[in-house]
Amino acid sequence: MVLENFIVFEGIDGAGTTTQLEILKSRTPEFLFTAEPTSSETGKFLRKMLKGEIQVTNETAAYIFAADRNEHINGNCIIEENKLITGIKSACEKGKIVVSDRYLFSSLAYQSIDCSPEIPRTLNKFFPLPRLLFFFDIEPEISLKRISSRGQKEIYEKIDFLKRTKEEYEKVLAEYNGTEISKGMKIVRIDATADKEKISRKIEEEINSIYKIF
Ligand code: TYD
Repeated sequence: MVLENFIVFEGIDGAGTTTQLEILKSRTPEFLFTAEPTSSETGKFLRKMLKGEIQVTNETAAYIFAADRNEHINGNCIIEENKLITGIKSACEKGKIVVSDRYLFSSLAYQSIDCSPEIPRTLNKFFPLPRLLFFFDIEPEISLKRISSRGQKEIYEKIDFLKRTKEEYEKVLAEYNGTEISKGMKIVRIDATADKEKISRKIEEEINSIYKIF
Protein backbone atom coordinates (compact mmCIF):
# COMPACT_ATOMS: atom_id res chain seq x y z
CA MET A 1 0.00 0.00 0.00
CA VAL A 2 1.17 3.52 -0.87
CA LEU A 3 0.69 6.58 1.31
CA GLU A 4 -0.06 9.27 -1.32
CA ASN A 5 1.39 12.31 0.48
CA PHE A 6 4.54 10.61 1.72
CA ILE A 7 8.04 11.25 0.32
CA VAL A 8 11.25 9.52 1.45
CA PHE A 9 14.96 10.32 1.02
CA GLU A 10 17.40 7.41 1.31
CA GLY A 11 21.09 6.74 0.80
CA ILE A 12 24.25 5.52 2.46
CA ASP A 13 25.75 7.73 5.16
CA GLY A 14 27.33 10.88 3.72
CA ALA A 15 25.14 10.85 0.59
CA GLY A 16 23.88 14.38 1.28
CA THR A 17 20.20 13.81 2.03
CA THR A 18 20.30 16.22 4.98
CA THR A 19 21.59 19.12 2.84
CA GLN A 20 18.89 18.55 0.23
CA LEU A 21 16.21 18.28 2.90
CA GLU A 22 17.28 21.68 4.24
CA ILE A 23 16.98 23.20 0.75
CA LEU A 24 13.57 21.62 0.21
CA LYS A 25 12.45 22.83 3.65
CA SER A 26 13.25 26.42 2.73
CA ARG A 27 11.27 26.08 -0.52
CA THR A 28 8.22 24.29 0.89
CA PRO A 29 7.28 25.68 4.33
CA GLU A 30 3.90 23.97 3.98
CA PHE A 31 5.47 20.46 4.04
CA LEU A 32 6.16 18.56 7.25
CA PHE A 33 9.67 17.18 7.70
CA THR A 34 10.66 14.18 9.76
CA ALA A 35 13.44 11.61 10.18
CA GLU A 36 14.35 8.11 11.32
CA PRO A 37 15.50 7.16 13.87
CA THR A 38 12.76 9.39 15.37
CA SER A 39 13.22 11.78 18.29
CA SER A 40 10.84 9.68 20.41
CA GLU A 41 12.09 7.40 23.21
CA THR A 42 12.68 4.44 20.85
CA GLY A 43 14.64 6.74 18.55
CA LYS A 44 16.75 7.96 21.48
CA PHE A 45 17.51 4.34 22.35
CA LEU A 46 18.60 3.74 18.74
CA ARG A 47 20.90 6.79 18.77
CA LYS A 48 22.62 5.47 21.91
CA MET A 49 22.93 2.09 20.24
CA LEU A 50 24.46 3.69 17.12
CA LYS A 51 27.04 5.45 19.29
CA GLY A 52 27.90 2.14 20.98
CA GLU A 53 26.60 3.31 24.37
CA ILE A 54 24.02 0.49 24.48
CA GLN A 55 24.73 -2.98 23.13
CA VAL A 56 22.00 -5.27 21.79
CA THR A 57 22.08 -8.15 19.31
CA ASN A 58 21.78 -7.24 15.63
CA GLU A 59 18.33 -8.85 15.51
CA THR A 60 17.16 -6.81 18.50
CA ALA A 61 18.36 -3.69 16.69
CA ALA A 62 16.23 -4.68 13.66
CA TYR A 63 13.18 -5.05 15.94
CA ILE A 64 13.76 -1.69 17.59
CA PHE A 65 14.19 0.13 14.25
CA ALA A 66 10.83 -1.43 13.24
CA ALA A 67 9.20 -0.49 16.57
CA ASP A 68 10.43 3.09 16.16
CA ARG A 69 9.01 3.08 12.62
CA ASN A 70 5.63 1.87 13.83
CA GLU A 71 5.34 4.90 16.13
CA HIS A 72 6.61 7.07 13.30
CA ILE A 73 3.91 5.86 10.92
CA ASN A 74 1.00 4.80 13.11
CA GLY A 75 1.56 6.76 16.32
CA ASN A 76 -0.21 9.93 17.43
CA CYS A 77 0.63 12.97 15.38
CA ILE A 78 3.25 14.85 17.39
CA ILE A 79 4.80 17.98 15.90
CA GLU A 80 7.50 19.94 17.74
CA GLU A 81 9.11 23.11 16.41
CA ASN A 82 7.69 22.42 12.95
CA LYS A 83 9.17 18.93 12.86
CA LEU A 84 6.97 15.86 12.80
CA ILE A 85 8.11 13.43 15.50
CA THR A 86 5.53 10.66 15.04
CA GLY A 87 2.22 10.14 13.23
CA ILE A 88 3.05 10.27 9.51
CA LYS A 89 -0.11 8.43 8.48
CA SER A 90 -2.39 10.71 10.42
CA ALA A 91 -0.68 13.85 9.03
CA CYS A 92 -0.81 12.54 5.44
CA GLU A 93 -4.48 11.66 5.80
CA LYS A 94 -5.15 15.24 6.91
CA GLY A 95 -3.69 16.39 3.58
CA LYS A 96 -0.14 17.28 4.67
CA ILE A 97 2.84 16.30 2.53
CA VAL A 98 5.38 14.59 4.79
CA VAL A 99 9.04 14.15 3.85
CA SER A 100 11.20 11.69 5.79
CA ASP A 101 14.97 11.43 6.03
CA ARG A 102 15.19 7.59 5.90
CA TYR A 103 12.45 4.96 6.16
CA LEU A 104 12.07 1.20 5.88
CA PHE A 105 14.54 0.95 2.99
CA SER A 106 17.26 1.84 5.52
CA SER A 107 16.30 -1.21 7.58
CA LEU A 108 16.17 -3.44 4.49
CA ALA A 109 19.68 -2.31 3.55
CA TYR A 110 21.50 -1.82 6.88
CA GLN A 111 19.94 -4.64 8.89
CA SER A 112 20.53 -7.12 6.03
CA ILE A 113 24.25 -6.73 6.58
CA ASP A 114 24.35 -8.20 10.03
CA CYS A 115 21.04 -10.11 10.21
CA SER A 116 19.45 -12.64 7.92
CA PRO A 117 17.81 -10.45 5.19
CA GLU A 118 14.42 -12.05 5.89
CA ILE A 119 14.35 -10.46 9.35
CA PRO A 120 14.09 -6.79 8.25
CA ARG A 121 11.85 -7.84 5.34
CA THR A 122 9.42 -9.62 7.65
CA LEU A 123 9.46 -6.86 10.27
CA ASN A 124 8.77 -4.15 7.71
CA LYS A 125 6.29 -5.78 5.37
CA PHE A 126 3.18 -4.19 6.89
CA PHE A 127 4.31 -0.59 6.62
CA PRO A 128 2.93 1.56 3.78
CA LEU A 129 5.29 2.70 1.02
CA PRO A 130 5.92 6.34 0.10
CA ARG A 131 4.55 7.78 -3.16
CA LEU A 132 8.06 9.03 -4.02
CA LEU A 133 11.41 7.58 -3.03
CA PHE A 134 14.60 9.54 -3.74
CA PHE A 135 17.68 7.35 -3.63
CA PHE A 136 20.93 9.31 -3.32
CA ASP A 137 23.53 7.42 -5.27
CA ILE A 138 27.18 7.91 -4.27
CA GLU A 139 30.38 5.87 -4.19
CA PRO A 140 31.30 4.85 -0.63
CA GLU A 141 34.80 6.39 -0.94
CA ILE A 142 33.29 9.81 -1.69
CA SER A 143 30.71 9.55 1.08
CA LEU A 144 33.40 8.56 3.59
CA LYS A 145 35.40 11.69 2.69
CA ARG A 146 32.31 13.80 3.37
CA ILE A 147 31.69 12.03 6.70
CA SER A 148 35.33 12.33 7.79
CA SER A 149 35.29 16.07 7.27
CA ARG A 150 32.32 16.27 9.68
CA GLY A 151 34.26 14.70 12.56
CA GLN A 152 32.50 12.15 14.73
CA LYS A 153 31.84 8.74 13.14
CA GLU A 154 29.03 6.41 14.16
CA ILE A 155 29.44 2.64 14.10
CA TYR A 156 27.96 2.34 10.61
CA GLU A 157 30.40 4.70 8.91
CA LYS A 158 33.47 2.58 8.17
CA ILE A 159 34.38 2.05 4.51
CA ASP A 160 33.65 -1.70 4.35
CA PHE A 161 30.34 -1.09 5.98
CA LEU A 162 29.50 1.71 3.52
CA LYS A 163 30.34 -0.60 0.61
CA ARG A 164 28.15 -3.35 2.02
CA THR A 165 25.32 -0.87 2.62
CA LYS A 166 25.49 0.29 -0.98
CA GLU A 167 25.33 -3.32 -2.20
CA GLU A 168 22.32 -3.99 0.00
CA TYR A 169 20.56 -0.81 -1.16
CA GLU A 170 21.06 -1.90 -4.76
CA LYS A 171 19.38 -5.23 -3.96
CA VAL A 172 16.49 -3.42 -2.29
CA LEU A 173 16.06 -1.08 -5.28
CA ALA A 174 16.02 -4.07 -7.64
CA GLU A 175 13.34 -5.69 -5.48
CA TYR A 176 11.18 -2.57 -5.59
CA ASN A 177 11.86 -1.13 -9.05
CA GLY A 178 8.77 -1.69 -11.18
CA THR A 179 7.73 -4.82 -9.30
CA GLU A 180 4.34 -5.82 -7.90
CA ILE A 181 5.24 -4.96 -4.25
CA SER A 182 6.10 -1.38 -5.19
CA LYS A 183 3.00 -0.57 -7.23
CA GLY A 184 2.24 3.16 -6.96
CA MET A 185 5.68 4.16 -5.66
CA LYS A 186 8.07 6.07 -7.92
CA ILE A 187 11.79 5.57 -7.34
CA VAL A 188 14.07 8.42 -8.43
CA ARG A 189 17.82 7.87 -8.42
CA ILE A 190 19.77 11.03 -7.66
CA ASP A 191 23.41 11.47 -8.65
CA ALA A 192 24.55 12.63 -5.21
CA THR A 193 27.86 13.91 -6.60
CA ALA A 194 26.16 16.48 -8.86
CA ASP A 195 26.08 20.09 -7.67
CA LYS A 196 23.60 21.07 -4.98
CA GLU A 197 21.45 23.30 -7.21
CA LYS A 198 21.19 20.67 -9.92
CA ILE A 199 20.06 18.07 -7.38
CA SER A 200 17.52 20.38 -5.78
CA ARG A 201 16.08 21.29 -9.20
CA LYS A 202 15.67 17.60 -10.04
CA ILE A 203 13.95 16.94 -6.71
CA GLU A 204 11.56 19.86 -7.18
CA GLU A 205 10.74 18.75 -10.74
CA GLU A 206 9.88 15.26 -9.52
CA ILE A 207 7.78 16.56 -6.64
CA ASN A 208 6.02 18.96 -8.97
CA SER A 209 5.20 16.24 -11.47
CA ILE A 210 3.09 14.60 -8.76
CA TYR A 211 1.87 17.38 -6.46
CA LYS A 212 1.99 20.47 -8.74
CA ILE A 213 3.16 22.84 -6.03
CA PHE A 214 6.07 24.82 -7.54
P1 TYD B 1 21.43 9.10 9.97
O1 TYD B 1 20.46 9.45 8.91
O2 TYD B 1 22.87 9.00 9.63
O3 TYD B 1 21.23 10.12 11.15
P2 TYD B 1 22.15 11.36 11.52
O4 TYD B 1 22.52 12.02 10.23
O5 TYD B 1 21.25 12.20 12.37
O6 TYD B 1 23.31 10.76 12.26
O7 TYD B 1 20.93 7.71 10.60
C1 TYD B 1 21.60 7.08 11.62
C2 TYD B 1 22.06 5.71 11.25
O8 TYD B 1 21.03 4.73 11.46
C3 TYD B 1 22.51 5.50 9.82
O9 TYD B 1 23.84 4.99 9.85
C4 TYD B 1 21.62 4.42 9.26
C5 TYD B 1 21.09 3.73 10.48
N1 TYD B 1 19.77 3.13 10.30
C6 TYD B 1 19.63 1.73 10.27
O10 TYD B 1 20.61 0.99 10.40
N2 TYD B 1 18.40 1.20 10.12
C7 TYD B 1 17.28 1.96 9.99
O11 TYD B 1 16.15 1.42 9.84
C8 TYD B 1 17.43 3.39 10.02
C9 TYD B 1 16.23 4.27 9.88
C10 TYD B 1 18.68 3.94 10.18
